[in-house]
Amino acid sequence: MKGTRVSTAPFDVHRPVAHLRPPRNWINDPNGLVHHDGHYHVCYQYNPYGSDHANMHWGHFRSPDLISWEPLPIALTPTPGGEDADGCFSGNAVSDGDRLVAFYSAHRQERPQHQLITTAISRDGGLTFHPRGDLLIPEPPDGTTMYRDPYVWQDGNSWRMLVGAALADGRAAALLYDSPDLQTWTYRGPFCAGAPEPLGDRGLLTGEGWECPQYLPAADGRGALILSAWYERDGPHGVLVLAGEERGGVFEAGPPQLLDHGPDFYAPALLRAPGGRWLLWGWSWEARDKEWSAAEGWAGTLTVPREIELTEDGRIYQRPAAELLALRGERTVHASGLALNSAPVDLGEVGRSFDLTARLEATGKAGLRLVTAADGSEYSDILLDADAGQLVVDRDHASLDPRAHGGTYTMPCPSGQPVDVRVVVDHSIAEIFLSTGQVLNVRFYPVGEGPWRLQAHTAPGAQLTYTIDAWQLLPLEIKESSTDTPT
Ligand code: FRU
Repeated sequence: MKGTRVSTAPFDVHRPVAHLRPPRNWINDPNGLVHHDGHYHVCYQYNPYGSDHANMHWGHFRSPDLISWEPLPIALTPTPGGEDADGCFSGNAVSDGDRLVAFYSAHRQERPQHQLITTAISRDGGLTFHPRGDLLIPEPPDGTTMYRDPYVWQDGNSWRMLVGAALADGRAAALLYDSPDLQTWTYRGPFCAGAPEPLGDRGLLTGEGWECPQYLPAADGRGALILSAWYERDGPHGVLVLAGEERGGVFEAGPPQLLDHGPDFYAPALLRAPGGRWLLWGWSWEARDKEWSAAEGWAGTLTVPREIELTEDGRIYQRPAAELLALRGERTVHASGLALNSAPVDLGEVGRSFDLTARLEATGKAGLRLVTAADGSEYSDILLDADAGQLVVDRDHASLDPRAHGGTYTMPCPSGQPVDVRVVVDHSIAEIFLSTGQVLNVRFYPVGEGPWRLQAHTAPGAQLTYTIDAWQLLPLEIKESSTDTPT
C-alpha cells in the first residue's frame, strides 16, 4: 500500500474508516464531484463549527486513485453580506481546460426555499476557489416554490444544467438550462416534471420537490435521471431513478426505480471518470438521536464510491468501485456449508470493518447474522426470504442502546437459485450489493463488548447453502495536508 496512514482525530467506535468524511463535525451531500488535473475531487456539504446542519461550506478532498485522499482547504465559504451569506449549498463542478468551475446554490435566510445559482472558479487544481460574488442565475423561473442544486454537464459543444425544483402546481421538477460558454445560460423549461406513477409501497417517494438532480447520459439519447425526493414538511425521503429518453430538451421517463433500498441514503452525486466510467457517492445520514452524534462530535458519512450503469433494458446497475479491492486486508472468513433449521453456524470473527462476498441459496428465511455482543444479545441480520423474493435487513437488535434507530428494510432478490451478495461494513455503515445491481445502505450502532462474529443463520424450517469469504477492510489513506484543512 502507498503512503502512511495518519490518524487525524481521536477515534470513536462508530466512525467509519474506509468511508470519506472529515474527522469531525457535520456533513451532508457530496458536491463538486469531478476528475480534474489527474485527481478525483470530492467536496461535501460541511459545517466546520458543529455536528448539526448549519453554516454550510464545501469541504474538499482529492485523490489520484480513490484510496489515498488528501484533505484540501475548504473550497467554498459563505461570504458575509453576500448572496451566499447563509450557506454554500449543493452543486457540482466541471473541468474546463485548466479551470475547475463549481456551480452551487447560494443560501440566504430570507429566501429559504430558493437558493439561486452562482459559481466559483479554481485555476490551481482546487486549492483555492474564487467566487464570482453576484448570482449567475439571479431569478428562478416563474411558478417555482423551491429551487436549488445545479448539475452541469457537457453535451457536445454546449453545456447544460439541471436545477432541482418544486412547481406551484404541486409537481417536482428538474429544470433545464443551456449555455455555449458556462457564462450565459438560457432557460429551456422543465426537463422532467412529476414522476409518472407512484413507486410501489413507497408511493410518496415521488417527492413534492426534487433536490440534487443528476443526469447520466447514455447512447442514443437514452439516459438516467437521479432525483432526491423532498417534502416541504418532512424534508428528504429517498432517491429515485427515472430511466428514459431525451427528445428535444424533454426527458420522457419510464417508471421510477429506487436507487437505494435502505433508509439512510440521500442526495447522491455523479462523477464521470476518465474512460467514461460513472461513479456515484451518496450521503448516509445518522440513524441515531442527535444528542448521541453531538457527543461523538460528528454526523454523516459519504458512502463508498459506486460504479453505476444504465443497462440496455433500462435498469440501474451499481457495484462498489473496483478500486475498493485494494482496501482488502487479511482474509478472516473462508467457509462453505449448509445451515439448517435455526441452528446457528459460527463462521468466525470479523473486525469492525470488513468486506464480504457470499453465494447464498435459501429455502425459507436464512442468511447472515453479525453478532456484536459476546452473549448474542446484539446482532444485525441480512437474510434472504426465499418465499417473498426479498433480501431483508433487520436492525431491530443492532444496538443495545435505545437511541439507535431500528427497522426492517427489504430489496427484491431472486429466489430458487444461488444469490451473490457483497457486503461492505465499516463501524456504523453497511452497504449491501446484490449481483442484480441493487443496493441497500443502512446505518447501525453496536455498543456490545464484541468481538464481532459472523454466523450462518436460519429461521425454523429454513435451510441455507453458503460460500462466504470476508476480508478486513483497511482504512483509507488520509494524507497529512500541508494546507489549512477541516478539523
Ligand atoms: C439535500 C440538500 C440540498 C441543499 C443542501 C443543503 O440534502 O437539502 O437540496 O442544497 O442539502 O445542505
